[in-house]
Amino acid sequence: MKRAQACKGRLSRRLAETVDLLIKGATLLTPAGEALADIAIRHGRIARIGSIDPALAGKVIDAAGLHILPGVIDTQVHFREPGLEHKEDLESGSRSAVMGGVTAVFEMPNTKPATTSAEALADKVARARGRMHCDFAFFVGATRDNVEQLPELEKLPGAAGIKAFMGSSTGDLLVDDEETLARILAVISRRAAFHAEDEARLKARANIRREGDAASHSEWRDAEAAFAATQKLLRLATAAGKRVHVLHVSTRGEMELLARHKDVASVEVTPQHLTLVAPEAYAALGTRAQMNPPLRDASHQPALWGALAQGVIDVLGSDHAPHTLEEKAQTYPASPSGMPGVQTLVPVMLDHVNAGRLSLARFVDLTSAGPQRVFGIASKGRIAVGYDADLTIVDLKAERVIEDDWIASRSGWTPFAGRKVTGWPIGTIVRGQVAMWEGELGDASGEPVRFGEALPKSD
Ligand code: DOR
Repeated sequence: MKRAQACKGRLSRRLAETVDLLIKGATLLTPAGEALADIAIRHGRIARIGSIDPALAGKVIDAAGLHILPGVIDTQVHFREPGLEHKEDLESGSRSAVMGGVTAVFEMPNTKPATTSAEALADKVARARGRMHCDFAFFVGATRDNVEQLPELEKLPGAAGIKAFMGSSTGDLLVDDEETLARILAVISRRAAFHAEDEARLKARANIRREGDAASHSEWRDAEAAFAATQKLLRLATAAGKRVHVLHVSTRGEMELLARHKDVASVEVTPQHLTLVAPEAYAALGTRAQMNPPLRDASHQPALWGALAQGVIDVLGSDHAPHTLEEKAQTYPASPSGMPGVQTLVPVMLDHVNAGRLSLARFVDLTSAGPQRVFGIASKGRIAVGYDADLTIVDLKAERVIEDDWIASRSGWTPFAGRKVTGWPIGTIVRGQVAMWEGELGDASGEPVRFGEALPKSD
């Protein structure tokens, strides 16, 4: 008997060396549906799912009563480094991400300098390593001058793909002529992401803005400006036979159009377009509600929820676009557009889950399976053996109030301050490392996200 116990002890110790972390007792959101099971993690990957003896693990987390989702991937954030670090940097932005349950981010190219060359991309990747708390990839900005280089740039390590601004927003990246857009689509092979607002219409209507009245932002950058650009983009993508990703889609007309172009187009919406409406949001928040594309009036929001229910929408992106409160306090239209969002994506959307506006399974589809499918992410996006152990652990019943002082972003504010929500991120696990647990920062270190279409060669 003693010998048998000693033998079992030796065996457990041997296995303990191979299972780094065991998470016990939670409800998992697996590809097959919800399952009450443990997850064993070894070398940053999911090693086993099932009923697992805690004696086999180096470290055990008891997650009874919680739900474990595949790690939430936010495919649109602006982290401002290099050049605009007074608003945010890669460390503070990613700290905000993991505090909110986000395990990977795709960061946008409108920094200073803009990410439009191999050097600028390598610089961002070098800055991110060892400083970011979550995994990361960076979009490369398209310009009139770098079209020839885009096929190489889109495949570089750490590149999420190509991004083009069809209408002016923060920064000076802009591709507003059809000829350059067609050239871009002709040369690239990966799916590229687009900010679709029609620059000519924005210019022609600039006088609609009323000084000191942020609500006029939504009148200026109207639904037609977004529709015209999305229509043009879909025409060009279809002609080129290329896939496009339409960022922060905000209008009813675009959703109807996009539903007829699912062969070429994937669709992103933001939590703020699903949650806030104009002009009420301006009355409550002033310039804090100012973003591009703008918040829409209440006639559009049901169409966004309808498109979400009908499967037209592929991913949720926060469009985390931090500006300081001092900058936001400038008189409209001098005030910059954009609001922080990477930390509030999970609680705001879980509150919608609890209110019955979408299922938890659809939330998972939009934040992990969706990003994986749209961008071809390698070994992330589902709870399955062999995949990266990226996990978002949530308490669906927790009731909290979102407050500015919870926000880890350097900007230090959120348009959702004061909002009572049900559903809260409890833990963030990045490739098996605890990045956040119950509001405390862990010691996870981010790595570049890898993509199936651009896997680095190993010698
Ligand atoms: O509101 C916005 N802010 N929309 C964008 O497209 C850019 C972003 C920013 O970088 O501030």
